[in-house]
Amino acid sequence: MADQSLPLRRHLIANAVALAPSYAALGALYWSGNLAGRPALIALACVTAITVVLVQRYLVSLARFARFVGELSGEQEPVMPRLSFAPATEELASAAATLATGWRRQRASIDNLAASAQAVVDGLPDPLIGVDRQRRIVRTNRAAVALLGTMGADRDLSTALRHPQLLSAIDSLLETGADGNFVGPDQTAVEIVLAGAPELDVIAHARRLPRAAADGSLALIVLHDTTALRRAERMRADFVANASHELKTPIAGITGFIETLRGPARDDATARERFLGIMAEQADRMRRLVDDLLMLSRIEQHEHARPDAEVDIGRVLLGVQDLLQLKAASRSVALELATDPALPKAVGDYDELTIVFQNLIDNALKYAKPSTVVRVTARPLGEGQLSVAVSDEGDGIPAAHLPRLTERFYRVDTARSRQLGGTGLGLAIVKHVVNRHRGRLDIQSTPGKGSTFTVTLPAA
Ligand SMILES: Nc1ncnc2c1ncn2[C@@H]1O[C@H](COP(=O)(O)OP(=O)(O)O)[C@@H](O)[C@H]1O
Ligand SMILES: [Mg+2]
Repeated sequence: MADQSLPLRRHLIANAVALAPSYAALGALYWSGNLAGRPALIALACVTAITVVLVQRYLVSLARFARFVGELSGEQEPVMPRLSFAPATEELASAAATLATGWRRQRASIDNLAASAQAVVDGLPDPLIGVDRQRRIVRTNRAAVALLGTMGADRDLSTALRHPQLLSAIDSLLETGADGNFVGPDQTAVEIVLAGAPELDVIAHARRLPRAAADGSLALIVLHDTTALRRAERMRADFVANASHELKTPIAGITGFIETLRGPARDDATARERFLGIMAEQADRMRRLVDDLLMLSRIEQHEHARPDAEVDIGRVLLGVQDLLQLKAASRSVALELATDPALPKAVGDYDELTIVFQNLIDNALKYAKPSTVVRVTARPLGEGQLSVAVSDEGDGIPAAHLPRLTERFYRVDTARSRQLGGTGLGLAIVKHVVNRHRGRLDIQSTPGKGSTFTVTLPAA
């Protein structure tokens, strides 16, 4: 009990104060002769005993009150003690308890605010770092930790980002003149390259806040990853170069034959027939290329809009089979179609899905060995999906090529692809259409044995 630990001095003083008036009164009565010695001593003893007991109780109540008030600032609300020997402290205690409840509520809402602020910052997709006036890291969000690893709090920014250009830009942001005012710009952007695998192109946008935030942040740095943008730019440039190059060859061929037909072969009927045949072939190649390019750009334009019609894949496959039957026969490849009777309708676009399977089956026929079978198997997958697999018994594709196979103009063997009338755009078109359908394209291939291209689509 706390009352046992009350210091003796406090007891003595409290008792002295409480006993002083009684002692004075008894003394006055005795000295004035109104009270005899014996009764005076008895009264003195009684008054002392009762006072000591009462004072003791009172002090215990006070100690309990003090302890209660002390506990109010803790995490948990303490139980209000019984303070019957000090009624006034009871009122004080309940007032203090009310105050503490209000304070606790306020602290909860402050904690809540801080947590929401961190949640908002964590929700940002771009890495964010807050630095204080001394350029020390005082806040990071989840994306920053994911990119740069855990950063020690209150460490200098240079421990996380060792880019002199960025550091000096931040320094100039935080620089103050003799009058204490900032002298530099209040925002800046620096392009940096973050080492690692893969290397990242990043624009660091830094902005100084009008005044330091509660956590000490004075400047915020947001890292914006531009790697994909750069890659897209590069790809676009490559694409234009590739497309031009693909067109250049047939144009050069046709131009050459026109020259020949105008000059040396002017009167040679046999040569004219042959050259016109080759020219028609080259023109056809250009037409195919332009058709594929247009198709690709059309699909790309609305890649984000998901088609929503119900498509009977069985019918699509029959249509493609009709279209390619001749080609199969000419290469003595058997085209076998197996459609599960329980195949659900797919969600998609009839024409685009026709193009997908036309491309896949065309490839299978082209790259199959003569007198083999190309199998097309359509079946339900459950979980609202269906799959169509196109398998051939061809030369297969070495694993190293698989990840890049759907890139535009990417071919395992360019000369062979050209000779077979390919544009190198077929699988790129397939990939884009499948993406637009929120589907998936899986490629499995064993060199020497054959390949299987499987398209998974959402079922209606
Ligand atoms: N079934 C297959 N078997 C072997 N190789 C294939 C098959 N399908 C595609 N390829 C390879 O992938 C490349 C890209 O295919 P695609 O984009 O359709 O272009 P292509 O116009 O050459 O058919 C082809 O050039 C070929 O090297
Ligand atoms: Mg193809």
